[in-house]
Amino acid sequence: MDIKAQLLQVKTDFESDLENTENLQLLNEIRVKYLGKKGVITSVLKSLGSLSVEERKEVGLIANQIKDFIEESLKVKEEKLKAKELEEKLKREYLDVTLPHSWHSIGYSHPVIATLNEITSIFVSMGFSVESGPEVESEDYNFTMLNIPPHHPARDMQDTFYLNNGMVLRTHTSPVQIRTMLKKKPPIAMVAPGRVYRKDLDPTHSPMFHQIEGLVVDRDVTFRDLKGVLKIFLETIFGKDIPIRFRPSYFPFTEPSAEVDIGCTVCKGVGCKVCKETGWLEILGCGMVDPEVFKAVNIDPQEYSGFAFGLGIERIAMLRYQITDIRLLFNNDMRFLSQFEGIG
Ligand code: PHE
Repeated sequence: MDIKAQLLQVKTDFESDLENTENLQLLNEIRVKYLGKKGVITSVLKSLGSLSVEERKEVGLIANQIKDFIEESLKVKEEKLKAKELEEKLKREYLDVTLPHSWHSIGYSHPVIATLNEITSIFVSMGFSVESGPEVESEDYNFTMLNIPPHHPARDMQDTFYLNNGMVLRTHTSPVQIRTMLKKKPPIAMVAPGRVYRKDLDPTHSPMFHQIEGLVVDRDVTFRDLKGVLKIFLETIFGKDIPIRFRPSYFPFTEPSAEVDIGCTVCKGVGCKVCKETGWLEILGCGMVDPEVFKAVNIDPQEYSGFAFGLGIERIAMLRYQITDIRLLFNNDMRFLSQFEGIG
């Protein structure tokens, strides 16, 4: 076969090779086969030397045309194959963005914690600091230094969880008053939210519950300051028109002491089961810091005076959300808890 015929054969071979190529890897093999250093075209061009000048011109021209044709065809085919591959890939990795996805719910606060945080922030906005103390507390801090001597009924085995090492589970947040007065000099304005423990279990009492303690100590602090602060607090929580009354009471660590009632939020004062037909709900205990407490922490009661208050968080949460059994708050039943999504 002469070289011209050979070249035309190369072109035909190439065309059928190209025709049968369906992927990029094979295409590359074809490129090497025809255009590579040891490729068909190269070897034809090398053999041009054996031809006459005339023939060389003619065959060289044809060879170059075929080379250009092969290069161009490879390019076109390469683009086609690439487009095809992309299309297949897109088909394979098809994503239906309209399919409904599985929902992950976002966490939210427990109603007790939401209430506790809200109450704390009301006092913080009035300039109170936030203090804390341990839940396993010494009898001294939980009782004695709060003017509750060893024989006092508040120490009755019925109420208090005593531990083997002479410590107790704190029965109230009041020991944080002692801890703060030992740590800081007046003026003091603090609240102490936290868990407390008592041997109690019925629809309105749980052996573990939350309290928030308040304490203000400075020169010339009066009962009027106490009333003003608590009024602002209760009106913020229960609304501007909430009726408030102070009732004389007794706590060993305050003198005088009072309990604060609000008008029943359920019956609006008419009388119902929740307020035991009184029209009033007991909300918190408070009073002026007893001089005996000041003496226990080395603050001179002649120079300083103060007030303290303490309240149960669960009770407030139950009143706000009309919850009638405290145990609902601690059963971790999502059917109950999920009703409070978004409150805090
Ligand atoms: N510690 C008291 C209680 O748990 C509440 C209280 C605190 C009363 C501060 C007066 C002053 O019942």
